[in-house]
Amino acid sequence: MSAELWNSAAHVLEINWTGDHMVPSRKLYPHQWSWDAAFIAIGLAYVNPTRAWRDLRSLFEAQWPDGRVPHIVFDPATAEADYFPGPGFWDVPAYANRPARGSTGIVQPPMHAIAAWDVYRHASAHGANCAQEARTELEWFYPRLVAQQQYLTGRRNLGGGGLASIVHPWESGLDNSPAWDEAMANVPADLSLLTTYQRRDLNNADAAHRPTDLDYSRYVGLVLSYRAERYDDHDLLDRHAFAVECPSFNSILASAELALAQIAGELGLSAEAAAHRERAQRITAAIVKRLWNARTGTFHALDVKTGKLSPAHCVSGLMPLMLPDLPAAAVESIMAEAKSEKFGISELPAPSYDRTAPDFDTKRYWRGPLWINVNWLLRRGLLVHGFRDEAEDLRTAMVRLVHRNGHFEYFHPETGEGLGAPTFSWTAALSLDLLADRSVPAYARAA
Ligand code: SER
Repeated sequence: MSAELWNSAAHVLEINWTGDHMVPSRKLYPHQWSWDAAFIAIGLAYVNPTRAWRDLRSLFEAQWPDGRVPHIVFDPATAEADYFPGPGFWDVPAYANRPARGSTGIVQPPMHAIAAWDVYRHASAHGANCAQEARTELEWFYPRLVAQQQYLTGRRNLGGGGLASIVHPWESGLDNSPAWDEAMANVPADLSLLTTYQRRDLNNADAAHRPTDLDYSRYVGLVLSYRAERYDDHDLLDRHAFAVECPSFNSILASAELALAQIAGELGLSAEAAAHRERAQRITAAIVKRLWNARTGTFHALDVKTGKLSPAHCVSGLMPLMLPDLPAAAVESIMAEAKSEKFGISELPAPSYDRTAPDFDTKRYWRGPLWINVNWLLRRGLLVHGFRDEAEDLRTAMVRLVHRNGHFEYFHPETGEGLGAPTFSWTAALSLDLLADRSVPAYARAA
């Protein structure tokens, strides 16, 4: 099974390579996506470390002067008509487009420091040339990764409590998660926008598996609103209809600080390493203070505009498990939630949303289907806190699922049937990592 899965995963990463960067999938996502690039690099490092670095560099060459790393970097070889919303729609300010490739003006979860550190560790094992290349790359990335963190913890601290706000559901990577239903209800919906601007995703995917038109009209409206501000975050809370603190986004933000601590240590910057560790602790404390609900026993998204926590139980609420400084009571509660009938892992990994919720939807994107990347993060959290048996069960469930069903974008949470794009890069890349690497993250708590 392992060799077969390894070869099929490597093949997906071959066909989705453009020569400069990896597309998530050829038809549905024909550009480069930000958090995809990080997950992809982690797996690609096992088969082609040079490409893994190239892919990450390709993304960071489009970093804005303010530090933001855009959620999509566009491929000039792809026609505007092949993806909506394309570069013409985003119309980002000229200062943002130093390199030839255009971009969007929003971000995605900052997985890249974690990826850079993982690629460095794996590439170093490929021999002296790769080790030398990895060192040079790490030096190139470090200041850029720091600038990315500074943008998110500075300009995006819209709530003032030390966490980054997302200003568009696309920024979470969990687009139509029920976590934003309440906050999205306050965003004006104008379906006529979808006459002016046409969705392209439905040309390549089943409408029942994608966000609804109502969702899309709000997605488009939010971009138009941020675009009208020239993507300026100053006083944005007053002028923008959506600002949410997501537990998954912020857990990745804190984990990135821990990865940066490792990177700084490797580069001999010990004072900076200590500062990164301290920032990780501060973000962890803010997540507990602002996003924890003792009554539900899990973490929820905070609508910064209304000050209310979302009532939804989503897989994003389990992601703080990645944090080694999470208080023991919260770890215990997350474990209870993860093992409950809401998310319980059996034959299959965890779904994206509470299985027992009345609006659990087995096919619609982030409203029920299970995704490999968040389960990979959940496994990481299990390892950080020493739950080795549970981590191994989850690893086995993921490997079995992909081997049986293929490298799909997401999967039916009851049957395991593949949904969305069929040859999806991060599913393939993370399968390689699951097959190859059973190690514990360096900053894990002692078991
Ligand atoms: N995930 C969005 C899409 O479906 C945008 O990032 O295109």
